[in-house]
Amino acid sequence: MSDGYTIVIFGGSGDLTRRKLSPALFHLHSSQSLPDDTRFVAFARSDLTDEQYRQLLRDSAAEEADTKPDAWNDYASQIRYMHGSSTEVADLHVLDELIRNQLSPSESGTDNRLYYLALAPGLYEDTIDALHRAGMLDESQGGTRRVVIEKPFGTDLASATKLNDFIHTRVDEHQVFRIDHYLGKDTVQNLLVFRFGNTIFEPLWNRNYVDHVQISVLEEVDIGDRAPYYEHSGVLRDMFQSHLLQLLSLVGMEPPATAEADNLRDEKAKVLSSVRRLKPAEAATESVRGQYNGYRDTGGVSPASPTATYGALKLQVDNWRWQGVPFYLRSGKSLKTKSTEVAIQFREAPHRLFELSGESAHLVTDRLRIVIQPNESIKLTIANKRPGSRLDAEPQELEYKFPVDLRDAYERLLLDAINGDASLFTRSDEIELSWSIIDPFVEAWETQLSAQLYSYEPESWGPKAADQFITPHGKWSNPV
Ligand code: BG6
Repeated sequence: MSDGYTIVIFGGSGDLTRRKLSPALFHLHSSQSLPDDTRFVAFARSDLTDEQYRQLLRDSAAEEADTKPDAWNDYASQIRYMHGSSTEVADLHVLDELIRNQLSPSESGTDNRLYYLALAPGLYEDTIDALHRAGMLDESQGGTRRVVIEKPFGTDLASATKLNDFIHTRVDEHQVFRIDHYLGKDTVQNLLVFRFGNTIFEPLWNRNYVDHVQISVLEEVDIGDRAPYYEHSGVLRDMFQSHLLQLLSLVGMEPPATAEADNLRDEKAKVLSSVRRLKPAEAATESVRGQYNGYRDTGGVSPASPTATYGALKLQVDNWRWQGVPFYLRSGKSLKTKSTEVAIQFREAPHRLFELSGESAHLVTDRLRIVIQPNESIKLTIANKRPGSRLDAEPQELEYKFPVDLRDAYERLLLDAINGDASLFTRSDEIELSWSIIDPFVEAWETQLSAQLYSYEPESWGPKAADQFITPHGKWSNPV
């Protein structure tokens, strides 16, 4: 690791910084995982002193700060706060001076920087432009200049392409880290290890043995106070374009030559290019959309809002491995419980010799469930001899449980960005490919091609129509 690192968070007083970034930095700092002499600068519009800002962060992490007061104080003492506008070159010059004069270690002179844009997406372009004009993205003097960009990256293919094109005129792709925090989850990375670290599943991982694949990201939370964002985004832009398609790419990809960033991302991009592009009218019939009852009563939501808070899509992957194997994707808010899971449903035995019976007869056999969160685990349901005098079978589950104290995804991703490892970040082509898959669904839903917006009760599994939607291939894999 190189000495002299400054992490600048633009949007330093926002929700993301308080809830995710600051706790992640605190853990990395207290476990001495960061490069020596790492400093933190938070930059935002509010006029606060360093002390007021540190208190703001402490209030958001009160429990941890109280249990580890010395570690917290040590972390907090490294944080500087500066107020200003991230799109104003003059303000950025002041920030640059602060970093140069006060923060860089004088002995080594290295001035490495990570700029984290925890900003409203509408500010990305102007902020990157202003950083460029202030000379703050230039790596020619030595020292790295990396930019981490949060999702959502664009709102459709056209805007994402425009943003990518713009970014590439100001900064090189190797400096850009587009974050999808799902890739930082240990259990998501385990999809790669599980598939390519073992020999036993890979021969089965294809159209000869797999009936269909389910990818579910179910959330118990509702939209909270995010109406201004969510009304424009809805579940397709918020969850499908990013997290669900990233999961699909890891489940569907071919083995990469090595685990290095570009090899991994090439394979992910390849599978995303193989997903069949639908016309909006087709997308309308290959999906179900829903909205939870009560959504329209949320502050900031229009009383006649057509925004979908739930979606189920059926995608086909047109390549040798997956031809004819549907990928069912679903995600929604205000559901019965939080659960992110990949279920691989293998084909039925060609001829059933044994009836399934017993208390667990409702479990679906030949199903592999990779539970990403919570209760992180891998479960394989098989038919097993039912103890007793008859030759009957009953479904049984083989289960591996992950250790309980998994790190937060942001810790891993921040560290990777600091170390310049882009494997777990989304490349520009992946982003654009994902939008080109999702855009027809957005168009179908927004132009009312799919007339029905089904309502569903909070704390349910979503609209009944979604259950009928998957019926040709069985049932959704819901947590028990
Ligand atoms: C975010 C979405 O990207 O992911 C949120 O904007 C969603 O709407 C969140 O709640 C889910 O993340 P996790 O890690 O809690 O599954």
